[in-house]
Amino acid sequence: MRILAIESTCDETASAIVQDKNGGVEILAQTIASSAEITSKYGGIVPEVVAREQVACVIPVIQETLGKYQGEIDAIAVAYGPGLVGSLLIGIETAKTLALAWDKPLIKVNHMVAHILANWVIEDGNTLPKLPAIGLVVSGGHTDIINLKDETNWEWIGGTRDDAAGEAFDKGARAMGLPYPGGPMIQKAIDELDDKLVRPEWLRLPRPMIHEKNLEMSFSGLKTAVVELMTEHRDEIETQKLIGLVAKEFNEAIVEVLVTKTRAALEKSGTSQLILAGGVAANKLLRETLSQKCQEIGVKLSMPALKYCGDNAAMIGACALMRQDTIDPTKLRPDPALTVI
Ligand code: KG4
Ligand code: ZN
Repeated sequence: MRILAIESTCDETASAIVQDKNGGVEILAQTIASSAEITSKYGGIVPEVVAREQVACVIPVIQETLGKYQGEIDAIAVAYGPGLVGSLLIGIETAKTLALAWDKPLIKVNHMVAHILANWVIEDGNTLPKLPAIGLVVSGGHTDIINLKDETNWEWIGGTRDDAAGEAFDKGARAMGLPYPGGPMIQKAIDELDDKLVRPEWLRLPRPMIHEKNLEMSFSGLKTAVVELMTEHRDEIETQKLIGLVAKEFNEAIVEVLVTKTRAALEKSGTSQLILAGGVAANKLLRETLSQKCQEIGVKLSMPALKYCGDNAAMIGACALMRQDTIDPTKLRPDPALTVI
């Protein structure tokens, strides 16, 4: 089965043509356009602005994908939530129109489930994950630990009480005077760090809830802690060019919490497969630390290639193929608050 998939939940407009192959998902063509540069000028996402960008990009992006692969298409798939309602509507209405005009089935896709199923995209001879598994989904709007017992029996077992990890990266970066998107900009500041600089004693951020014996997390206090640190030590940070060290400490705080809670989830469930997903899954330290910890405790780790961590349409196609959740095109509506389960 060959599917044309569309993603428009936030500030990326993407489309892909995918097909099933040996239990995994093969990508035949894909195109992605991002309005992150425009968003960066505003210091964050402005829903009306990104929705207008979706309108401008959706047709050219689909046309480009269709130009890259000219074979027959069996179905259309689209992410219907969670996301921003204005952005969601653009992809949904386009997908409905194509399904009706071409007389093809329409498959609805939960964007968060799709992030997880991005791990089934075939890429350079990667080994596909096997269930049962623990899933750590870390994106701009969600931070969830999921027990994936089999293909459809999923249980939410932990996550953040307040801000998502990606949201913390974005807000933390803003407090440090770094542009949007926060995660990649914090990484850039760390990469450019002068290794002769030594971390001053006062440069220490909390690891919220790390010692609590549960799978709950909280990242909103971390943002407040950075704001306070930036206010109290602004002069030293500016004159001694310490922003890279602040970024490093902030990055380490978030990653330490994520890794500790994920390890606890693995131990509690006795599962020997971990699946990482979402925009924050691109984080270098998170990938390295989880790889090392998983090796130590004999757990297999699956993580998407970097291009399939952030929003993309390949993962929407993967989810459509694996879940086959068809719907009457006239009935599909956006669901901005949809959750992973
Ligand atoms: O999954 P995603 O593309 O969109 C949502 O569904 O939310 O995630 C976007 C989030 C942003 O908050 C961004 O700052 C974060 O992922 N992100 C990163 C990195 N790359 C993107 N966070 C940490 N390190 C990164 N390298
Ligand atoms: Zn996403």
